Amino acid sequence: MSEGKTYAFEKRIIMRGGRTICQFRPRGGARAALSRVCRLSAAPGAGRLGALTDKVHHPFEGEPTLIMLPASRALGLSERLAALHSHLRRAVPSVDRMAVALYDPEMDLLKTFVNSTVDGEPLRAYQYKLSECPSLLALKEGGEARVIDDIARELTSDSEHTRWVKSMGYRASYTIPLMHQGMFEGFIFLDSCQPGAFTPAVVQEIGIYVNLLVLMVGQEMTTLRALIGSVQVARDFTSLRDEETGAHLERMSRFSRLIARGLVRSHGLSDEFVEQVFLFSLLHDIGKVGIPDSVLRKKGALTSEERREMQSHVALGSEMVDRLVNDFGLSAVAGIAVLRNVVAGHHEFLDGSGYPRKLRAGDIPLEARIVTVADIFDALTSKRAYKEAWTMDEALKTMEKMAAEGKLDADCVAVLHANREEARKIIERFGEAGSPVV
Ligand SMILES: [Fe+2]
Ligand SMILES: [Fe+2]
Repeated sequence: MSEGKTYAFEKRIIMRGGRTICQFRPRGGARAALSRVCRLSAAPGAGRLGALTDKVHHPFEGEPTLIMLPASRALGLSERLAALHSHLRRAVPSVDRMAVALYDPEMDLLKTFVNSTVDGEPLRAYQYKLSECPSLLALKEGGEARVIDDIARELTSDSEHTRWVKSMGYRASYTIPLMHQGMFEGFIFLDSCQPGAFTPAVVQEIGIYVNLLVLMVGQEMTTLRALIGSVQVARDFTSLRDEETGAHLERMSRFSRLIARGLVRSHGLSDEFVEQVFLFSLLHDIGKVGIPDSVLRKKGALTSEERREMQSHVALGSEMVDRLVNDFGLSAVAGIAVLRNVVAGHHEFLDGSGYPRKLRAGDIPLEARIVTVADIFDALTSKRAYKEAWTMDEALKTMEKMAAEGKLDADCVAVLHANREEARKIIERFGEAGSPVV
């Protein structure tokens, strides 16, 4: 396949009929080429827009120069990735899987996030330390893509990931560091059941799809980070900053993620849901920014009137979420229901003794139950003005009793118990001085 002549083209994101459309407009000499059926291609490597060659082939039948990203309304990133993959397979049928893994720099963890696996059980709820994977670490450091032509011969590690890749029958792979706004965010993995599938020509051909995937993930991250950032600014201007430390939020959001991840198989959850719980648990108490200092910072017991006022942080939080969703135009963001449920339901107990709605078991969304357990676990294992930090054993014993009484979700508590070692690492990494962790 000859390289052909290349032309630059530019990208525009437009909204049309409630759908996000990524439009590629040719520049200069490329315009003339568009009258023919074209092949879109991009230089390999994430984050760079491609070039238009005058070779003959167009993967987006009936959609010349337009790549329709299905609307984000009610569609999660997983669904949008599946749509992108099916477009890609029209042009390059040999690509059997596209996946994104996210990087958590605080814990040095690479985590499965979204994937479109055509056949078989996808790899889910999987994470590993990037520093323990030298080949991927080298890709991150060098910012370079990697092609593996023969997985059986070239991938020799005994990691769960490698075993899974081989068990699925993948024979070749293409891995690209995911860069967004100059930051390393994770990796994009493309796999094929055909050895040597990722020839230079194929790599060039799939570049545009890789760039679109970077764009999709980047848009999602930008939106969510703007939302989280705006709430954190509001929090920093109030006394909530003193009452609820950043360390508490770091720990409890990671406990939430730990629990959600532990439920993936038994509850049929997606990694995308796990990440939403992780991110949105940070905002569980946003309503407290509206509670007066006299109540929020009161030392000693609250009167029943003050307790009612304190409990109103849940309703205030729900109002804030609604306002944020309107102000940021976030109703289209997948997972926004998870945020709503976390904020509205994190003080409900399964036996109806919680607040404010006294919901019972099945009426309390799973994400709210997860955050409730994570929040209580952190409250018990950390030092507060009125108490010393409990050990993990003491905390778990109490929480198991609460689960037996029908207040807490027993599955969530069991996951914490089964993952004590990981919970301990979180406390060690984000704990305040003096917290016991055994
Ligand atoms: Fe709360
Ligand atoms: Fe909390």
